[in-house]
Amino acid sequence: MNKKIIILNGSPRLKGNTAGLIDAFVQGAEQTGHTVKTFNLQKMNIHPCLGCLGGGKNPDSPCTQKDDMDQIYPVYEEADIVVLASPMYYWSITAQLKAAFDRLFAVAEKDGDYRNQKKECIMLMAAEGDTRDNFEPVEHYYHALLKHLEWKNAGEVYAGGVMKIGDIKGHPALDEARQLGLSIQ
Ligand SMILES: Cc1cc2nc3c(=O)[nH]c(=O)nc-3n(C[C@H](O)[C@H](O)[C@H](O)COP(=O)(O)O)c2cc1C
Repeated sequence: MNKKIIILNGSPRLKGNTAGLIDAFVQGAEQTGHTVKTFNLQKMNIHPCLGCLGGGKNPDSPCTQKDDMDQIYPVYEEADIVVLASPMYYWSITAQLKAAFDRLFAVAEKDGDYRNQKKECIMLMAAEGDTRDNFEPVEHYYHALLKHLEWKNAGEVYAGGVMKIGDIKGHPALDEARQLGLSIQ
């Protein structure tokens, strides 16, 4: 089945290591016939959530803040799979990705009980550290997030040992990301 995939790229370096993982994943996913739309959050005007709890009234522009999230909302609503792509920043995702993800709450506000749409999710992450222990806080967060949203985990790729732009070249995680794209059914 052809699936719709939205990639939220939280890396500020658009030719960086996270971008390498995204390119490999997209190659595999498109080869399998899926439709992918990537948002490079660093280039977008996206403000953090204000917690006003006033969203959800306008179905086409559900947040009370009007900014580039309005480009993301319709693609997110249509998507079967949400890809969270980020470098590790202080054992977490970047502020760019967190801000965009928090703002998706406005879509849940369309439902009186704040019910989230059911999605599949994928995590792609690059980091300097290269141990299981280094990735543990992010894995923990990612799994807790999915459990509470009742989203299905469609895969995770963690590329450790990459610091500077270009370090990802030849990294085995690139093949993992491509294979993950190819494996989507
Ligand atoms: C502000 C900042 C915080 C970082 N924090 C971590 C960290 O907690 N753990 C880690 O392993 N790497 C950390 N790194 C390294 C990045 O995750 C690494 O350079 C990654 O490859 C960057 O991906 P990019 O090329 O997509 O920007 C940090 C880098 C920066 C700039």
